[in-house]
Amino acid sequence: MSAGLVTVSYIGAIILFILTLGGLSHQETARKGNLYGMIGMTMAVLATIFGPQVTSNTHLIVVAMLVGGSVGITLARKVEMTQMPELVAILHSLVGIAAVLVGYVNFMGGSGLTGVEKSIHEVEIYVGVLIGAITFSGSVIAFCKLSGKISGSPLMLPARHWLNLGLLIASIYFGYDFVHQGHVGGDPMIPLMIMTGIALLFGVHMVMAIGGADMPVVVSMLNSYSGWAASATGFMLSNDLLIVVGALVGSSGAILSFIMCRAMNRNFISVIAGGFGTDTAAVTTGTVEDQGEVVPIETNEVASLLQNAKEVMIIPGYGMAVAQAQHTVNEITKTLRAKKINVRFGIHPVAGRMPGHMNVLLAEAKVPYDIVFEMDEINDDFPATDVSIVVGANDIVNPSAQDDPNSPIAGMPVLECWKGTTTIVLKRSMATGYAGVQNPLFFKENTRMYFGDAKESLDAVLKELL
Ligand code: TAP
Repeated sequence: MSAGLVTVSYIGAIILFILTLGGLSHQETARKGNLYGMIGMTMAVLATIFGPQVTSNTHLIVVAMLVGGSVGITLARKVEMTQMPELVAILHSLVGIAAVLVGYVNFMGGSGLTGVEKSIHEVEIYVGVLIGAITFSGSVIAFCKLSGKISGSPLMLPARHWLNLGLLIASIYFGYDFVHQGHVGGDPMIPLMIMTGIALLFGVHMVMAIGGADMPVVVSMLNSYSGWAASATGFMLSNDLLIVVGALVGSSGAILSFIMCRAMNRNFISVIAGGFGTDTAAVTTGTVEDQGEVVPIETNEVASLLQNAKEVMIIPGYGMAVAQAQHTVNEITKTLRAKKINVRFGIHPVAGRMPGHMNVLLAEAKVPYDIVFEMDEINDDFPATDVSIVVGANDIVNPSAQDDPNSPIAGMPVLECWKGTTTIVLKRSMATGYAGVQNPLFFKENTRMYFGDAKESLDAVLKELL
């Protein structure tokens, strides 16, 4: 393939990637957006493999792609929807380690450059390895936290901000040392390796310090880092496509992190520096016995409350995903709407375990888009709501986020369902949600607890309604 054709393919792929991001910003166009992305990536990969930069061993690349692709397909088929954030985190780690390896290989191979050009190239390598190593170790820790392999509580070292600052200054010092021909140990490889160790440590420390309900921000932040790592790799390899695509991923991840911070009323810098989490939960929330009485409810009572309501709000959470109750939720919605009851959905920005998790499930079950509302659009409507059904949600409907300044989720906006006439909470037990905080909603006078697996419970209600 000629260099000209490669350039044309790269430009085509970039345009398709931009269309992908545009498509993914609306549910109605998300499918098309994904398709653009797939076509763009196929074009990019083919143009790279058959372009002039690959002069030999094409068969090895193809074999590696077949092996990697097969592992990818197997993982994607096996993974449960609820495990998606873990999968995404571990995939980010691969981008990070790739940037580190490319950086080392690039450096060891020698660039043949001299003077300022050589220095610029070395800065590219240094920055690429730095971002890549942080992304790698941070993502591995995020994977371990999200999959429950290590505790989700934040690790609050006493002088953690000073430690971070120290690591940053050391990285800058060794960067200077690296570009100025290795004062440490007389070999530039030594400062590069020391910095790699520092960056790995920084990634571990950064993610270990974040806990509880703030993990979603970390996942999107690591997504952003993986984009910048890819972009840095693009600079090392002088590959324009990788630079642009990395920047697209990096900036869209950063925007998503910012949006999520705003949605959770968190300061972006504070989340990055660590400090929110679950360590005060036990102190501030007390035991279940302290909180008062819970009032359980039976299936026929749930059905009758729904049938006699005019305004119903459904609040889905992580438990709906676990129970795979979205299809029954849709059937109940259809049945109630046929009875002229106004049914709407209230979606919290961090409901579930990944951005847009609930929207994906509801779209899969074919719930109409026009009755699905974001938290900001719907929160003022709860006082006029007759029945709110909380389907396997917990943290996102926790009033202590507003009432208890010592709560680990203090300040996080929540869906104010308790302001309606009756709230029915579907869950299996009195267990806490992701942030590990007890929920005073369950003890309110107008709350009824409907215990059981969300799908089984809703199937039973549907039977009563029909
Ligand atoms: P959670 O607070 O995690 O609560 C989910 C509840 O669902 C649990 O209390 C659980 O109670 C119940 N549940 C689990 N399986 C169930 C089943 N089969 N049937 C019925 N109920 C079931 O979820 P949420 O309210 O959606 O809040 C999301 C939390 O995850 C937030 O803290 C958020 O910060 C965090 N998080 C979000 C993301 C993103 S991006 N969305 C990523 C990582 C973390 P039982 O065990 O008693 O049934």
